[in-house]
Amino acid sequence: MAKPHGKPAKTDPLAELWPGQSVPLLKALHILTHNGGLNADSRRKLKQVLHLANLIRPALDWAFREKEQPVLADLGAGKSYLGFILYDLFFAKEGRGTVYGVESRHELIETSKKIAAESHFGRMQFLESAIRDARLPEGKADVVTALHACDTATDEAILFALENEARFVALAPCCQAEVARELDHVKGPMQQLWRHPIQRREFGAQLTNVLRGLFLEAHGYKVRVTEFTGLEHSLKNEFIFAERHQRSNPQARVEFDKLVQQMGVAPALLKF
Ligand SMILES: C[S@@+](CC[C@H](N)C(=O)[O-])C[C@H]1O[C@@H](n2cnc3c(N)ncnc32)[C@H](O)[C@@H]1O
Repeated sequence: MAKPHGKPAKTDPLAELWPGQSVPLLKALHILTHNGGLNADSRRKLKQVLHLANLIRPALDWAFREKEQPVLADLGAGKSYLGFILYDLFFAKEGRGTVYGVESRHELIETSKKIAAESHFGRMQFLESAIRDARLPEGKADVVTALHACDTATDEAILFALENEARFVALAPCCQAEVARELDHVKGPMQQLWRHPIQRREFGAQLTNVLRGLFLEAHGYKVRVTEFTGLEHSLKNEFIFAERHQRSNPQARVEFDKLVQQMGVAPALLKF
């Protein structure tokens, strides 16, 4: 029978939890209230992390298939929602591998360490460090994630992935000011594209992400750029997922250089 008109039925996000997913962890992360319920903010966060876990799943499936002790590094980790959820869903279940959270803010590191200890997540480690200075004991990471790492921190994450020979890189870039700032000084036939500050910001972000994709391709990654999640959840909605399948790609490097030359700007950290 057809449903009567009225408010659309709300889907229950708790029904979307993965089998065996830890409810106490979700409470500790304040994704669930202490009664096990959801508010508007936590509902959004839960949907976002579960969606992200699905997007990153192929990388972790590969890592657990191919590596005895897979390593995932989450950079600009913030409260480490992503690291905790991925540890719970993959690393705890498998009983092997390590998750590192890299974050520059001391108080966030301290809270994350406490939650990891309470959750008995013994193979979850936190490094209080800028991404560019972070060194893993293994010297390698199989999967690197950086979710909404601010401005040039995403570029630091790309360099970290290369230095640590990551097979997979998952990025959801955040606010990007650097290239937009430089565009302000670039004159030429295309200048109308970034004349107004809001357009300069958006065009700068677009150009930054295009160059990031090409940079990864030039280093041998196959790059897929998709929507991160519905716009109602985040205005920073681009998801860059890259898998390394060769050492380098000279043609992509030519395209990167050509675009930098045409535009006259590039993220400073990614200049060849
Ligand atoms: C917008 S928050 C995102 C946090 C988390 N990834 C998430 O999506 O919930 C960005 C975090 O990155 C950290 N951060 C920014 N730049 C960083 C850098 N260069 N090195 C390490 N952490 C950085 C900030 O302190 C902040 O906690």
